[in-house]
Amino acid sequence: MDKLNMKSPDFTEQNIEKLAALFPNCVTEAKNDKGELQKAINFDLLKQELSNNIVDGPRERYQLNWPGKREALLTANTPISKTLRPCRKESVDFDTTENLFIEGDNLDALKLLQETYLGKVKMIYIDPPYNTGNDFVYDDNFTADKDEYDLASEQKDEEGGRLVANTESNGRFHSDWLDMMYPRLKLARNLLRDDGVIFISIDDGEVANVRKICDEIFGEGNFVAQISVQLNPRGRNLDKFIAKTHETILVFVKDYMSETSIIGIQKEGRMIKEYNKTDNTGQYRLTGLRNRNQAFNPSTRPKLYYPLYVEPLTGRVSLMKNSEYVDEVWPDTPDGVKTCWTWGKEKVTKENKLLIAEKVGDSWRIYRKDYLIGENGKIATTLVKSLWLDKQINNDYGRKVVKDLLGAAVMSFPKSVDLIRKLIQIGAREDDIVFDFFAGSATTAHAVMQQNAEDASTNSAQVSNRKFIMVQLPEVTDEKSEAHKAGYATIAEISKERIRRAGQKIKEDNTDKEGIDQLDTGFRVLKVDSSNMKEVYYAPEAMSQADLVDQADNIKADRTAEDLLFQVLLDRGVDLTLPIKREMMSTKSTKEKEFEVFFVDENALCACFEKDINEDLVKQIAKREPQRAVFRDAGYGSDSTKINIKQIFKLVSPHTEVKAI
Ligand SMILES: C[S@@+](CC[C@H](N)C(=O)[O-])C[C@H]1O[C@@H](n2cnc3c(N)ncnc32)[C@H](O)[C@@H]1O
Repeated sequence: MDKLNMKSPDFTEQNIEKLAALFPNCVTEAKNDKGELQKAINFDLLKQELSNNIVDGPRERYQLNWPGKREALLTANTPISKTLRPCRKESVDFDTTENLFIEGDNLDALKLLQETYLGKVKMIYIDPPYNTGNDFVYDDNFTADKDEYDLASEQKDEEGGRLVANTESNGRFHSDWLDMMYPRLKLARNLLRDDGVIFISIDDGEVANVRKICDEIFGEGNFVAQISVQLNPRGRNLDKFIAKTHETILVFVKDYMSETSIIGIQKEGRMIKEYNKTDNTGQYRLTGLRNRNQAFNPSTRPKLYYPLYVEPLTGRVSLMKNSEYVDEVWPDTPDGVKTCWTWGKEKVTKENKLLIAEKVGDSWRIYRKDYLIGENGKIATTLVKSLWLDKQINNDYGRKVVKDLLGAAVMSFPKSVDLIRKLIQIGAREDDIVFDFFAGSATTAHAVMQQNAEDASTNSAQVSNRKFIMVQLPEVTDEKSEAHKAGYATIAEISKERIRRAGQKIKEDNTDKEGIDQLDTGFRVLKVDSSNMKEVYYAPEAMSQADLVDQADNIKADRTAEDLLFQVLLDRGVDLTLPIKREMMSTKSTKEKEFEVFFVDENALCACFEKDINEDLVKQIAKREPQRAVFRDAGYGSDSTKINIKQIFKLVSPHTEVKAI
């Protein structure tokens, strides 16, 4: 039976496949380190295909480079065989929630999520360490000399990865930080939907560098804006020459041509007062139909330069001149400069009832009615501006919310919930996924839940259902810190407790909102860990008889069935937040034994990791016609069961994809 792969995707392999599809003639075979034949690209041939457009060798080119960039790219492409282990007791509403909290290094998490969340995330917000000279940066260089590690490292994980202080005296100050950011941003881009957007908080220190790597990763054409956010209105008094009051949020979209990447914000205050007229349809304002930008004129837009005709008594407008529509109007300025209309003739016909002419002096001006409430029942929107000065977005609010919720200022610079809510308002609609892989105290999760609740009073009658995915390293808190004193051993502990308390508070504060009981304030905790599978050695001569017996079961002894289930979900790219049902099934031949069987989202996937499964159980499972079925390789009661499984499914549920773990 086919075995599951149990590795994150190999991007080098995928890139070769993509090139092979475009240039099949450039594909060849070559031996790898183990002497096995594998697909490879004949680079000389590929160069010929691209002839004049290749930059090679030491020729000058425009790009950001740093020592280690090549390795950083390799880091992004290298597959890992880790897994995500569920932790029920730290989760809230484990069985029903659609939110995820992943504990571990975000590079691993990003790799593990590649299959499942490819092209599914609408909005990413990150607030990475700013590289201020006091930050800890996660060093992915597992190959460095161990003694060197021990000297430099503050914290280590089992693979030797570590959090190291990145001080300015370090000769690789910027390079180390870029090494950390580059692979993560590259992997993050894959997860964005075509209308996805990423917001990156950063200060003056690395803004230039992070913008450059984003130009490269997301494409310069997909840059939207650098929003200036005033987070510290008093200014940093330790600055030299100029006291900084603001930080930057860099905005890139996956595809600049997608109209739905950024959502307009609802008009309020003064903007609403402009809608000072009313008719049977509702409140409206008049906006000129003539394009005031003189760059648009009969030469550049010939189809938008044509006459309209006005009925003088009513001010109605037509494309045709007749006995009623007698006054001719051209899109020219009062002093005779030719410009053009903003609508083509087709739209003038289709939306004619919105057009109205008014006399100004001796001449007619053509206007269109712009209603405050659109056909979708929502208030008119406007573009968000690039300078944010709102009081509630400043850092004091961020600190206060954490202090009020957790009893102490346990996080150094948490962002304000209102800042992230404002980003959510322009970045994610009612059901979208919001992802933050530098979660810190999980302000983003708090903001998602809060905005979902707020929507009940503005957008729709019901609370919304945006979902969050948070990733946070179990970074150990400093012994002298407030967090440590308050009993939080790691930042991940702070994040989880924040989400628990914020969720509860939002529900308590919004009892008047429609559907508040349905507000999803739960989260599934998944922890990055080594694979559930034992290392399998392909050199039997090096193994003792005892080892061989041990290898008969390839799963580590401390791993639970639920651990295996999540590894299977990851491998098959099945949504990690689907509802899971656990059933105990008995069989005719083994009345006294019950088998634990998982059904994910009814029949999206069925898995049984029990030992000694028999044909009767397999038949019962097949009758449920799951889309995918997974069994344990060493779990068959007899050799005949192992052989017959495929046959049983072929007869009973031919569309099921059957695999072994
Ligand atoms: C500036 S803080 C984010 C603060 C957050 N926006 C808030 O409001 O609380 C950055 C966070 O990223 C975490 N972090 C740094 N490197 C990481 C990594 N490799 N994987 C996951 N988290 C990491 C740090 O532990 C820290 O909590």
